[in-house]
Amino acid sequence: MPQEIRASARASSFTESVIREMTRLAMEHDAINLAQGFPDFPAPAEVKEAARRAIAADLNQYPITWGEQEFREAIASKYERVYGMHVDPERNLCVTCGSTEAMISSILGILDPGDEVVIFEPYYENYGPDTILAAAVPRFVSLRRPDWTFEETELSAAFTDRTRGIVLNTPNNPTGKVFAREELEVIARLCQRWGVVAFTDEIYEHITYDGLPHIPIATIPGMEDRTVTVSALSKTYAVTGWRVGWAIAPAELADGIRTVHDFLTVGAPTPLQHAGIVALGLPDAYYETMSREYAERRELMLGILGEAGFEVSRPQGAYYVMADISHLGFASDVEAALHMVEHVGVAVVPGSSFYSQPELGRHVVRFSFCKRMETLRRAGERMRTRLGPPS
Ligand SMILES: Cc1ncc(COP(=O)(O)O)c(C=O)c1O
Repeated sequence: MPQEIRASARASSFTESVIREMTRLAMEHDAINLAQGFPDFPAPAEVKEAARRAIAADLNQYPITWGEQEFREAIASKYERVYGMHVDPERNLCVTCGSTEAMISSILGILDPGDEVVIFEPYYENYGPDTILAAAVPRFVSLRRPDWTFEETELSAAFTDRTRGIVLNTPNNPTGKVFAREELEVIARLCQRWGVVAFTDEIYEHITYDGLPHIPIATIPGMEDRTVTVSALSKTYAVTGWRVGWAIAPAELADGIRTVHDFLTVGAPTPLQHAGIVALGLPDAYYETMSREYAERRELMLGILGEAGFEVSRPQGAYYVMADISHLGFASDVEAALHMVEHVGVAVVPGSSFYSQPELGRHVVRFSFCKRMETLRRAGERMRTRLGPPS
């Protein structure tokens, strides 16, 4: 009997990204896209100019697979300057195609099939497929409203002698939570007790509000030799389409990450890594302005949502807000999101896509506010006139 022509069981075990599907629907219905987290404002002029210069200078061939040397040096010196982290650009770094590839290469490069991974939920939807592709077993631990904290007993109970990883995302998508030092210390104690690696996605590291600091878990004592720190140019410099990110890890873990990365993608775009050197060298004022502008967007978004009758949790970081849709009277979050994209002209993400058990997210949708004030105001106007008053 010939074999059936089909996709692999592994690929069939997860579906298309709901977030990216909402972007497709937003385009189809000419809706304002508050679903996917990409800015609609320009990237810094000097960073774009650096990319043009790199292409003109013919830096257009394969990069060193784990990253162009000057770019790795720029990353290492930024971590030293901002967080006091010592990163050896030769041993501890792998430049990847965005945080997305940094996470999947790290998980594939470090975990074995059957290893258990603790994941806080709600969670950024890629972590599900990441674990499935590695044939690892996720163990979910709840972040609970209103401040999205976890219970230490529930977290402790999720660790077993099969646990080899924990996925952390701070500042957090979708909740806006910024993990506090005490919370990171609880996680660190458990990681050390059970011999677990922390995979920490810190792509929103520069977007926090009300003066809250972002603390990389790698800086918590005892974590430097068991943490993979992932970040990217994507969000900090408004270049989500460039696909340049990195993983920082102790040498023995970095070796595993580099090997997987080499065979997955060979390398991240060479000229854009060179533009990244300029991006990482921007002065502190750049980050201060960026975070002040995001704080203004947050206030506007919270005002719009409050006026439309949504109950929300105030984000401490990142650029998302989870909003309760109970007052709208829809049967589910998916129905609400479809109504909004088709009839209101505003795309959002159904809350269920951030949970392992969809029922847990049925009463919420996620708005992203990484848009120009004018875009947010237009979305607000549409919601005011087309969503109807709260019942
Ligand atoms: C938590 C988180 N990690 C990773 C990504 C994707 O990052 P990149 O574009 O660098 O692959 C996103 C994008 O929304 C995100 O929210």
